[in-house]
Amino acid sequence: MTDIALNHWLTEFRRELHRFPELSNEEFETTRRLREALEAKQIRILDLPLRTGLVVEVGGQRPGPLVILRADIDALPIEEVSGVPWPSENPGVMHACGHDFHSAAALGAAILLREKEESLAGTVRIIFQPAEETGHGAPAVLATGALDGAKAIFGIHNDPALPVGVIGSKAGALTAGVDRFKIDVRGRGSHAARPHEGNDPLIIAAHLVTALQTLISRNLDSRENAVVSVTQVHGGSTWNVIPETAWLEGTVRTFSQSAREGLERRFHDVTEGVARTFNAEVTLDWQPGPPSIINTAEWVDFALEVGEKSGFETRRLEENPIGEDFAFYLQKLPGAFIMVGSGGPFALHHPQFRVDDAALYPTAQWLAGLAEAALISGHLK
Ligand code: NI
Repeated sequence: MTDIALNHWLTEFRRELHRFPELSNEEFETTRRLREALEAKQIRILDLPLRTGLVVEVGGQRPGPLVILRADIDALPIEEVSGVPWPSENPGVMHACGHDFHSAAALGAAILLREKEESLAGTVRIIFQPAEETGHGAPAVLATGALDGAKAIFGIHNDPALPVGVIGSKAGALTAGVDRFKIDVRGRGSHAARPHEGNDPLIIAAHLVTALQTLISRNLDSRENAVVSVTQVHGGSTWNVIPETAWLEGTVRTFSQSAREGLERRFHDVTEGVARTFNAEVTLDWQPGPPSIINTAEWVDFALEVGEKSGFETRRLEENPIGEDFAFYLQKLPGAFIMVGSGGPFALHHPQFRVDDAALYPTAQWLAGLAEAALISGHLK
């Protein structure tokens, strides 16, 4: 296929994925579409115990290392109002994070690598990963053993804050460790006029919100970055009754393991302390999500150098407090996660979010070139 023909075909394929977005772990039609496209190009699909998503392989005809590319395939529970002529046909579900773009770019890379399979000095595996948005997809793929023994892994995410034609990353921590907390307060309700007969859970919840904010301002080393956001507070149902219970929920974002562990410990201290102060029952449900992405410096440099050679402008980025389950892969093997300019203007997860088509084919070409070059690079190992 010529570049122009493949570019056109990939653009149409991406739009089709966009029209039929599916939530995490429900990507059955997306997987079917990818499987059909891969089979049509005679790309080997590994037989792995995954309900959704795929891992494919090219090369291996010449001896050499294993290099991994990873794209995610799931969508979000958002009603699309992007105004594109190929909007979501699944009500309430939208590719608002551009995983349709990532999937199509990785598919393009697989096709380009397949065309030169005989010359590859090793094997490239390409992961079409389910359930990134819930943080469960990467551990599920890791559990299949498909990454065992790999030399390096590369992943991408589109970044609407960067123009098309720009890629960027940073060595070390790139994204945040993401933890979610829910705190239940069980006090004693009473008539609003007789609070002394009860044990007001709303006062307790208010103390918790304030106390938790001091964890950043008074517990975290000022040279570290972290965020504590309480995003929901619920309690009560009318104006003249003090309720029995209240609950609050939110998230903690950190960029180091020590900050992550320290903040979790202090969350337990604060909830236990407030419970004792008010003689109430306060329970903390701490749900750990993906850790911070820790990029390998050498592979970041390498990926950006290959990008420059294939025509991208490259940038060094700041830490970004989003979560990304690619971090689980980087706990097991070296590699780099690279942001790819998608041209805005709307942020990831926005109902008007869209990716500029012009970003797609150059990304596929760069990914293919990156995997091919990583096989023969003298970096690490
Ligand atoms: Ni995403």
